[in-house]
Amino acid sequence: CCPVSVLVTGSSSGIGLGLVKQFLTLPIPPRWVFATSREMDGPKCKEIKVLLSQYQNLVLLQLDVTDLKSIRAAVEEVRKHVGERGLTLLVNGAGIMFFSSLQTENAKDMVAEYTVNTVGPLQVSQVSAFLPLLKMAAKRSLQEGLSCSKAAIVNLSSNGGSIELMPKWDKTQNVGYRCSKAALNMLTKCQSMEYPNYGILCVSVYPGFVRTKLTMGDLSVEESVQEIINVLSTLSEVDNGTFIDWEGRRLPW
Ligand SMILES: NC(=O)c1ccc[n+]([C@@H]2O[C@H](COP(=O)([O-])OP(=O)(O)OC[C@H]3O[C@@H](n4cnc5c(N)ncnc54)[C@H](OP(=O)(O)O)[C@@H]3O)[C@@H](O)[C@H]2O)c1
Repeated sequence: CCPVSVLVTGSSSGIGLGLVKQFLTLPIPPRWVFATSREMDGPKCKEIKVLLSQYQNLVLLQLDVTDLKSIRAAVEEVRKHVGERGLTLLVNGAGIMFFSSLQTENAKDMVAEYTVNTVGPLQVSQVSAFLPLLKMAAKRSLQEGLSCSKAAIVNLSSNGGSIELMPKWDKTQNVGYRCSKAALNMLTKCQSMEYPNYGILCVSVYPGFVRTKLTMGDLSVEESVQEIINVLSTLSEVDNGTFIDWEGRRLPW
C-alpha cells in the first residue's frame, strides 16, 4: 500500500518535513523519498540534512515551485534515481500565507500567494515537469484502478479555501490565501478530469489546523501527517477529484 517513490515540495519545514519523516519511518518505506527545499544551504534545511546521514533512500533536491528552471533540474535528478520506474506520488506541499483582511489585502501579497499556492502545483505537475514520471509509474504498475501506490498527485489545500465552509472569517480573513486555495481546489478538479486517463489519482487534502511556522494550530505536525499517510493509503478512484481532510472526511468545495 506504500508508494515506491514520493516527492514532497516545500519539505524544509512544517507538514512537508513531517511527511518526509513519516514516509521514511514506515514499516515498508518508499524506495526513494525526495525532499525538496528552496535553499540547499543555511539553517532552513538543517533538519533534512541530519536525516540524509541516516536514510539512504532520502534525496534532497533544490526546488522552487515558482521557478521553471529549478523544477526541470529537480525532475532530471529524480529521473536519474527512479529511471524507468517513474515517480509514484507527488505531494504539492509548498505554500505561503500572509495575514490580511478584506481591506488590507493587496496585489503584491495576493499575487505571491497565487504564484506559490496555485501556479506552483500546476507547473510542478505538468508535462514539462513530473507528469511523464508519474505516467511511467502508473504504466508499470500492475494495480487496477487508481491509488497513491500506483501514481498520484496530492495537493495540500485548506478548509480556508472552501467557499461553502468559510471557516474563522471573524478571526482571520486572509483573503488572498483563501482565494489561492479555492483556485488550487479547482486545479485539483481540472487535473482529476485529465490525469486519471494515465492512471494518476488527483486529490486535494486539508491537513488540519496544524502548528507550523504558518499557523498556531491545534494539531501537531506528527498527528496530522500520520493521519494523512493512513488516509492516502486508502484512496481509490472514488476519491479522485475530491477534497478531503487529514482524516479522510469529504469537505465541500
Ligand atoms: N499549518 C496549517 O494549519 C495548514 C492548514 C491548511 C493548509 N496548510 C497547507 O499545508 C502546506 C504546508 O504548510 P505548513 O503549515 O507546513 O507551513 P510551512 O512550515 O511554512 O511550510 C511551507 C513550506 O513551503 C515552502 N515554500 C514556500 N514557498 C516556496 C516556493 N516558492 N517553492 C518551494 N517551496 C516553497 C517553505 O519553504 P521555505 O522554508 O524556504 O520558506 C516551507 O518548506 C501549505 O500548502 C499550507 O497552505 C497548512
